[in-house]
Amino acid sequence: MGYRDTYAAWQTDPEAFWMEAAQAIDWTEAPSRALTDKGDGLCEWFADGTTNTCFNAVDRHVIAGKGDQTAIIFDSPITGRKDKISYQQLKDRTAALAGGLVAKGIAPGDRVIIYMPMVPEALVAMLACARIGAVHSVVFGGFAAAELAVRIDDATPKAIIAASCGLEPGRVVKYKPLLDGAIDIAEHKPEFCVILQRAEETAQMSDRDVDWHDLTRTAAPADCVPVAGNHPAYILYTSGTTGAPKGVVRHTGGHLVALNWTMKNVYNVDPGEVFWAASDVGWVVGHSYICYGPLIHGNTTIVFEGKPVGTPDAGTFWRVISEHKVASFFTAPTAFRAVKREDPKGALIADYDLSNLRAVFLAGERADPDTILWAQTQLGVPIIDHWWQTETGFAIAANPLGIEAMPIKVGSPSVAMPGYDVQILDEGGGPVGPDTLGAIAIKLPLPPGTLPTLWNAEARFRKSYMTTFPGYYETGDAGMIDSDGYLYIMARTDDVINVAGHRLSTGAMEEVLAEHPDVAECAVIGVSDTLKGQLPLGFLCLNAGTNRPHDEIVKEVIALVREKIGPVAAFKLACVVDRLPKTRSGKILRATMVKIADNDDFKMPATIDDPAILDEIREALQTMGYALD
Ligand code: COA
Ligand code: AMP
Repeated sequence: MGYRDTYAAWQTDPEAFWMEAAQAIDWTEAPSRALTDKGDGLCEWFADGTTNTCFNAVDRHVIAGKGDQTAIIFDSPITGRKDKISYQQLKDRTAALAGGLVAKGIAPGDRVIIYMPMVPEALVAMLACARIGAVHSVVFGGFAAAELAVRIDDATPKAIIAASCGLEPGRVVKYKPLLDGAIDIAEHKPEFCVILQRAEETAQMSDRDVDWHDLTRTAAPADCVPVAGNHPAYILYTSGTTGAPKGVVRHTGGHLVALNWTMKNVYNVDPGEVFWAASDVGWVVGHSYICYGPLIHGNTTIVFEGKPVGTPDAGTFWRVISEHKVASFFTAPTAFRAVKREDPKGALIADYDLSNLRAVFLAGERADPDTILWAQTQLGVPIIDHWWQTETGFAIAANPLGIEAMPIKVGSPSVAMPGYDVQILDEGGGPVGPDTLGAIAIKLPLPPGTLPTLWNAEARFRKSYMTTFPGYYETGDAGMIDSDGYLYIMARTDDVINVAGHRLSTGAMEEVLAEHPDVAECAVIGVSDTLKGQLPLGFLCLNAGTNRPHDEIVKEVIALVREKIGPVAAFKLACVVDRLPKTRSGKILRATMVKIADNDDFKMPATIDDPAILDEIREALQTMGYALD
């Protein structure tokens, strides 16, 4: 059956479609139905089934005789380490950690925060939580203590699992001081922390801390605990309009069914093949396609600790693909832009045998045509753009290679996946015709695996996603659909920006800038960047009478954002202005500012350190009548 027939089959009978997909999952008690409509826009999937995520991702493959198959390949060019972990070993390690957590009092439903770099133990920690029905919340290592503290207070974890350090090129990121700092700031205090000591850094342990190896050596291994289909598998915080992150909840049953379905239908891999998503466990791509999707489907996944360039060179991706015989590769366009910048002619590709690679998938930000065409030419395989969000957990639109390779239209993430009725709406909520720009909305209900609510914040869930267009989920993206049904994602409709494939809130940055004693008012916008897609740019209005040098204040606010949000914010550009462009009612015209900075005549410098950018923006704003310093 081709794409259009598959999509039509879902449209005709969604219940039958998902019940059939659910047969690929091992249930303790099979669900009697797929969808439970709870009314008022809320729904749950496979709510009356019982199952266990870790059983499906690990144990069932061992039981099926695949214990010797490699589950995880660890490849860390930054340390020079490589390792292979079989499904049997993964089961033993996961059961041991799960047993340790149970011995320390972790019970189903308890939250556990995981603050780990890209090491296999990060996956072991996630799976160990799933094994005992604990709800994990992974926090990206590039966030600062204050951001971790916000998540601790919202998720109220009983335990935190962390490593002693992460490794960035040229620097060891000591996690323990960040962790202790976050717990100091947070009102909620976890009962204990499990610390994985890495060779590169030995963390100072306190009475609250338990050594990972001591814990796993002594405890009895834990079995999988069956949980209800609507039991939260995890919470993953993502950026919204304000500084407070949104805790996206993922339910167990739908998550298993949807991810397993995508592995063949979207990514076109069969069990046993190597699937590599070069992302980080702290992001949704890491959850869905480094950890859960490939393991549930019985693939081999790769945990890669490094960067696309500089560790050691721009051939790293090709070396990993060749050495580990990767069949399907997933990364963010920004990573390819980084490689292209270092090796535009793809000279390094010739050194490697990439014959196992069948397709490359891009997501996380807009895939610019230049990058797609470059990758296509260099690699000679389909380069598939696909569009999704933390909220959805898997692709809303893609080219479903396992169903049918649709013609590729460069600039489009192709077509809606079964489960998603994607529509373009005008401001009044009415549908617009083909090729017309509007808000992208998805008719409810959302499919299995997508967010049922926000953690502790149902009212915010409704307000953020369900209110603007009654009966629809508001994606926060704007775009259009052409007459062939291909989607085009053009921009965000809120204050979220996308920096190097990382989703960030300009509102959160503004809250930090406003804390500076000399700042009276501020705005942060995203401006185009040739490498990272977008970069945050801050505008500061100072308090009357402030006569300190502006560059000093700019340096201080840059340091403040790094300290409060973290290096991942990549906030390195700010300038002082006399006033901000506003509407008569006092609303800051961020969109106008973005247009000025992003207009075609505005030349973005190649590097963010180039001071020309500030001059260009100053000049552009001045021509619009805004006086600057
Ligand atoms: N822990 C601590 N710090 C981190 C970090 C982590 N896990 N990840 C990134 N950082 C730091 C970086 O060291 C950098 O610090 P610096 O300002 O001191 O240089 C800062 O955060 C910004 O990081 P990033 O925006 O990633 O820039 P980069 O120069 O390190 O790398 C790319 C640029 C394009 C190579 C890199 O961003 C990349 O590979 N992106 C792909 C993103 C991705 O996979 N997204 C997930 C969706 S698929
Ligand atoms: P995240 O929740 O971090 O995955 O970020 C989701 C957002 O990233 C989306 O709402 C889009 O704004 C953007 N995004 C993700 N994938 C794509 C894509 N293929 N094309 C354009 N934008 C994308």
